[in-house]
Amino acid sequence: MAKPKRLLSFLLSCFSWYLISLPSPPYPGEEFTQCLREKLPSELVYEQSSSSFTDVLGSSIKNPRFFTNATVRPLCIVTPTDARHVQAAVLCGRRHGVRLRVRSGGHDYEGLSYRSSRPDEVFGVLDLASLRSVSVNHPESTAWVESGATLGELYYAVAKNNSRVAFPAGECPTVGVGGQFSGGGIGMMMRKYGLSIDNVLDAKVVTANGDLLDRDGMGEDLFWAIRGGGGESFGVVLSWKIQLVQVPPTVTVFSIGKTLDQGAIDIVTRWQVVGPSLPDDLAIRVKVQGQEALFLAVYLGTCRSLVATMGRRFPELGMTSADCRSMTWLESAALSFTTLANIGTPEEVLLNRTGSMSFSFKVKSDYVRRPISKAAWKDIFSWFNMSGSASGYIMLEPHGGFMDSVPADATPYPHRNGVLYIIQYLVFWEGDGGTAPATAWLDDFYGFMGQHVSMNPREAYVNFRDLDIGQNVVVDDVDTFDGGEVWGERYFMSNYRRLTAVKAAVDPTDYFRNEQSIPPLL
Ligand SMILES: Cc1cc2nc3c(=O)[nH]c(=O)nc-3n(C[C@H](O)[C@H](O)[C@H](O)COP(=O)(O)OP(=O)(O)OC[C@H]3O[C@@H](n4cnc5c(N)ncnc54)[C@H](O)[C@@H]3O)c2cc1C
Ligand SMILES: *[C@@H]1O[C@H](CO)[C@@H](O)[C@H](O)[C@H]1NC(C)=O
Ligand SMILES: *[C@@H]1O[C@H](CO)[C@@H](O)[C@H](O)[C@H]1NC(C)=O
Ligand SMILES: *[C@@H]1O[C@H](CO)[C@@H](O)[C@H](O)[C@H]1NC(C)=O
Ligand SMILES: *[C@@H]1O[C@H](CO)[C@@H](O)[C@H](O)[C@H]1NC(C)=O
Repeated sequence: MAKPKRLLSFLLSCFSWYLISLPSPPYPGEEFTQCLREKLPSELVYEQSSSSFTDVLGSSIKNPRFFTNATVRPLCIVTPTDARHVQAAVLCGRRHGVRLRVRSGGHDYEGLSYRSSRPDEVFGVLDLASLRSVSVNHPESTAWVESGATLGELYYAVAKNNSRVAFPAGECPTVGVGGQFSGGGIGMMMRKYGLSIDNVLDAKVVTANGDLLDRDGMGEDLFWAIRGGGGESFGVVLSWKIQLVQVPPTVTVFSIGKTLDQGAIDIVTRWQVVGPSLPDDLAIRVKVQGQEALFLAVYLGTCRSLVATMGRRFPELGMTSADCRSMTWLESAALSFTTLANIGTPEEVLLNRTGSMSFSFKVKSDYVRRPISKAAWKDIFSWFNMSGSASGYIMLEPHGGFMDSVPADATPYPHRNGVLYIIQYLVFWEGDGGTAPATAWLDDFYGFMGQHVSMNPREAYVNFRDLDIGQNVVVDDVDTFDGGEVWGERYFMSNYRRLTAVKAAVDPTDYFRNEQSIPPLL
């Protein structure tokens, strides 16, 4: 296990990277960059020769693993401040045969928004970090948010306008709206209000033809696909109109750790059926690490009623009023998302887009539809026997409640009725190298878990991107349906086919592509 201090600094903030100076390789794609120079203000285009290139590239990278000398980097980075810049960049890319990767918050677990796994790929990055306004419509309880905003910026802007509304999305405030909404958006209010995408009312997209379309213009198929079908495949989503949701003036959180000696195995076993069936204003997620299970709860209500609910529904945890921490919803969003610690952190931490850390990480996911037996949980705890500088944990997040009421084909996110919880596996290690021991542990553990989780397909969450489960196969410059089927059905189940049909209609030549983008059904 990592030393506690390092571990703590990793857990308390969101991730980061160290600047590394890289040499400029030879310069392909000259006509494309020439076109960008003609069509866009020059200060918005960073070529590799620019002295700011490395800084701009690194500005939102969270995983030093994808910011090394060996990383396949873009030819140039475009930082639009207006929709017209995005349209012009797409048209330059089309005309000169250079693809653009889109980056909002840069949190992609495989770095696909800014790097390629293919050494010969020539591409540009469209970095939306400057397109990040949030405008709240108070009487309607709606807002338009641009993709380059972070979740923290969104939460802050919404609550400062009206502290009785909020938005259901993820727990790490530096995650980008663009990527998160594109893939679903799970978080501590999903049991009451669903995923982020369940609360999206409209959107603005620049398509592969360079058209700027809203919901009416794009039609219901494309509007369906961009809400959960994964980022990159269908165009550049510039902004989203969202339905804000009600929160009470005070929410209550707790964080209770149980070691093996304190009955962790029995309590986790029990949590699997209790967690997904609690009243929907209570979410308890569980972090299992080492020989401890940490129960992290956010309740949209008061301490008194939380204690009553816990006594009735989950007495095994032994929660009392001494465990309650009461605060506003916005204050709860500013807590460390892996510990719910650092009570009293100023809300302004939500506006901090950068983190500073040197941990590389790798993630995988699973869904559980049948409770895992107590005996199997004993085995699971025995896997936390890593040595050296690597460390890992699993985070279990309950579904149920609102999530059960949404049909599996209502959005591309298919993991709805019957899912008890999602497992996120995360392994991290110091520096940008030495991946082998950590990822080997993760591979073995994940292999062991296969017998206990959903099967046929073994479901996975597209926002917890994992290239191990498959990558596109390109034939005649187009990704193939069959090549995507293996990982596509794991992320989207029977929605995969409809996604490929939408892709064929809006981007048949496969301009918007990455290693796991949706192939066109031809
Ligand atoms: C620390 C951490 C915590 C996380 N916590 C949660 C969580 O609580 N809940 C959850 O659901 N997920 C969580 N995630 C996963 C996260 O939702 C995804 O990684 C998400 O894709 C990140 O969005 P981004 O804009 O930051 O990423 P980016 O790296 O910018 O983009 C991700 C993908 O989307 C594409 N994309 C980005 N913006 C656009 C756009 N505007 N239009 C079209 N395509 C676009 C990119 O090309 C790329 O393929 C977490 C990730 C990290 C690193
Ligand atoms: C990366 O490249 C720079 C410049 O060539 C070099 O000085 C540095 O040692 C390299 N780093 C690694 C980790 O190879
Ligand atoms: C909230 O937004 C509305 C616009 O919908 C604005 O008129 C109002 O002043 C804002 N209130 C605060 C407190 O920011
Ligand atoms: C933002 O967060 C990082 C990492 O936690 C920290 O180093 C930095 O000082 C913060 N910046 C501000 C302005 O608070
Ligand atoms: C760790 O535990 C797992 C499961 O019990 C076992 O298969 C593996 O060999 C152990 N690894 C080490 C390094 O002890």
